[in-house]
Amino acid sequence: MRMQGRVAIVTGAAGGIGAAVARRLAMEGADLCLADLRGCAEIAADARAMGRRVVDLTVDVTSKAANERMVENARRGLGRLDVLVAVAGVVSMGPAETLAEAEWDRVMAVNLKGVFLSCQAVIPPMRAARYGRIVTIGSVLAKNGGNPRPWIDRTEQARAGNVAYGAAKAGVHALTLYLAKELAADNITVNCVAPGPIASAMTAALPDSIRALLPVGRLGRPEEVADAVAYLAGEQAGFTTGEILDVNGGGWID
Ligand SMILES: NC(=O)c1ccc[n+]([C@@H]2O[C@H](COP(=O)([O-])OP(=O)(O)OC[C@H]3O[C@@H](n4cnc5c(N)ncnc54)[C@H](O)[C@@H]3O)[C@@H](O)[C@H]2O)c1
Repeated sequence: MRMQGRVAIVTGAAGGIGAAVARRLAMEGADLCLADLRGCAEIAADARAMGRRVVDLTVDVTSKAANERMVENARRGLGRLDVLVAVAGVVSMGPAETLAEAEWDRVMAVNLKGVFLSCQAVIPPMRAARYGRIVTIGSVLAKNGGNPRPWIDRTEQARAGNVAYGAAKAGVHALTLYLAKELAADNITVNCVAPGPIASAMTAALPDSIRALLPVGRLGRPEEVADAVAYLAGEQAGFTTGEILDVNGGGWID
């Protein structure tokens, strides 16, 4: 119960990782603002059953106004705002050579601009309170160029996630570092969890052989990402900022 009395916004809360993060923060005692394009009724019910207060919102993170409304609703409904976990994202696959311009724009809009706009919207109340924990979700694909072993299987590049996805996530890593420095003096930490392949809707199409690429021999679990987020979202992580925390089963080590 390290987050008792704290209020956390989780974007992408209806997805595999977002739902696990929301449940984990609720277990730690946090009241929740759940934000997603899709409904989060089931997660909201679980959190309420744990005794937490919940605001459940339909939010498109690509809109600045929608992010500002999200923050306003969270504060009005729950009285304060301490934590943002920016999980909302979309997957994108296929070769760079034929990538449609509209697909590049869609991925950048959700996975990079959306994360920035969610972060930007929480800065004023966090600065005013001189307290904040921001956690973004990056990816191993921001670091490894997509294909873990091109010399063995060239078709893997198309399945690994594409250049737009990797570039957007690399952007998330960079914005995490910039915000960490900009906000540190106001006791606001900004960190990133960078997962490898996690069993969720996003990776449902991945072949079983992907497991062989991971030293631990299995996909990760959303709960394992949530555990890392919970550490960074808690008061205890006050001296940790600008960290990109890999949760990738050893698939990429740097
Ligand atoms: N699953 C993986 O292997 C993996 C690995 C590395 C990083 N990630 C990242 O983790 C995050 C969550 O992934 P997941 O596996 O839970 O995927 P998911 O598809 O289960 O969940 C993503 C959620 O984001 C929501 N969303 C999409 N666009 C949105 C928008 N414009 N506004 C608000 N919400 C929106 C979706 O409705 C969905 O509920 C993503 O940022 C993803 O890129 C996932």
